[in-house]
Amino acid sequence: MTSTPFPTLLRIDASARHEGSHSRQLGDRFESAWRARHAGGRVLRRDLAAEPLPHISAATIAGYYTPPEQLTPSLREATALSDRLIAELQSAHTLLITSPMYNFSVPSALKAWVDQVVRIGHTFAYDGGAFRGLVTTPRAVLALAYGAPGYIGGPFAAMDHLQPYLASLLGFLGITQVDVVSVEATTADAGTVAAQGAAAQRRIDEIAATFATAQPIAA
Ligand SMILES: Cc1cc2nc3c(=O)[nH]c(=O)nc-3n(C[C@H](O)[C@H](O)[C@H](O)COP(=O)(O)O)c2cc1C
Repeated sequence: MTSTPFPTLLRIDASARHEGSHSRQLGDRFESAWRARHAGGRVLRRDLAAEPLPHISAATIAGYYTPPEQLTPSLREATALSDRLIAELQSAHTLLITSPMYNFSVPSALKAWVDQVVRIGHTFAYDGGAFRGLVTTPRAVLALAYGAPGYIGGPFAAMDHLQPYLASLLGFLGITQVDVVSVEATTADAGTVAAQGAAAQRRIDEIAATFATAQPIAA
């Protein structure tokens, strides 16, 4: 699988909310900055709330573990969506995932995407001793929203199964540079929310500034 010859941003949105979503707002800001730096670039979007992905089925799993030359028509059909989503991911030079914390982890809508793209022989390899990521996308940005304070280096850090999970998952797949911006306390009072939001926006701008227009594109 090879990258496309022009810059591609794959944006995955996971919040069930379209109005008032802090994670989507951070994503909008990053996307605008990325577009400004990549004239002629392409943005692919997967809005997992607007168009939820199906959970993997028994047939999907059977297809994942069947050698390509032995896939029956029904197994091909059961893995066709995974094929498309993986091709989308592999075509991207930058992956942007925006996500809220739901019950200490990712929304199930995002987990459904993960289960469709994490696939042996396609996005990771296992040689009996070690795993190797096969995703060629070099960079990812995580824009995350938490209702309460205290997850980022605070008293609830051990209950954060959102950022550590996504960062280690992307590393497992071979995405070597993952930048994270988190906004906490989104359910707090208006002043706190405004201050947290402003700080997160500054962080997004800092991350976006590291995306040079001359970002090398893999052939
Ligand atoms: C179903 C559900 C579960 C949530 N679970 C948590 C949680 O475990 N911890 C937390 O800090 N906030 C939790 N929240 C609050 C959201 O993380 C917070 O409202 C966040 O801003 C949502 O993201 P969004 O603004 O992008 O929609 C939860 C919200 C919902 C709707």
